Amino acid sequence: MTAVDATRVGRVVEVDHPLVRHKLTLLRRVECDTAQFRSLVEELSNLLTYEATKDLETEDIEIETPLMHMTGVSVSGKKVAVVPILRAGLGMVDGVLRMVPVARIGHIGMYRDEETLQPVTYYQKLPEDLGDRDVLVLDPMLATGGSVTVAVDALKAAGAVHIKMLAILAAPEGIARLQADHPDVDIYVAGIDEKLNEQGYIVPGLGDAGDRLFGTK
Ligand code: PRP
Ligand code: URA
Repeated sequence: MTAVDATRVGRVVEVDHPLVRHKLTLLRRVECDTAQFRSLVEELSNLLTYEATKDLETEDIEIETPLMHMTGVSVSGKKVAVVPILRAGLGMVDGVLRMVPVARIGHIGMYRDEETLQPVTYYQKLPEDLGDRDVLVLDPMLATGGSVTVAVDALKAAGAVHIKMLAILAAPEGIARLQADHPDVDIYVAGIDEKLNEQGYIVPGLGDAGDRLFGTK
């Protein structure tokens, strides 16, 4: 049995890199069209994955180069599962998979009720061996934190133990909610904004991530 650390608070890693800041600024702009928005979300997700997988275990392996024998390095230990929260999390999947192409993929479908801001779950399909994997839950927007908190509840109910969240933008309110409800979940994010507005949007933000990714209103 794994001991639970009651004093732990989820780490928040705001990825501080010139390319991340540059791409995030392009993404926020009202002029950024659907095609550019998609490709920037993918690129940012790729960079977030680089940070979020820094603690993957490795082992030495013996290999032959065309010139000689050497000791190389191979990723070992637990395998990865990637779980996007639909819809907007889908935009992050390809960027993550470019780094971890053999990951299993689960899906959690969820939308936020516009009046109550409460998440409504409409779909769930997850790999069976979640407990044996490092789980990366993907959602570009961590606003009130309601959606990801309920998604992590579902992942834990399905057996997940090691979970990280990757987001493009977060509000302090959402970070506090996830840290309070799931202190074992670390958060990797490209930017942390000032606050939520009265409609529960992150400001200055980038608007509705799902609508901008998929060209809906
Ligand atoms: C957005 C976003 C998150 C959620 C974040 O989804 O992609 O899932 O809101 O808000 P929260 O932290 O306050 O829960 P949305 O409801 O717009 O659905 P969509 O992805 O289908 O567009
Ligand atoms: N969901 C979004 O897509 N954008 C926000 O700012 C908040 C929630």
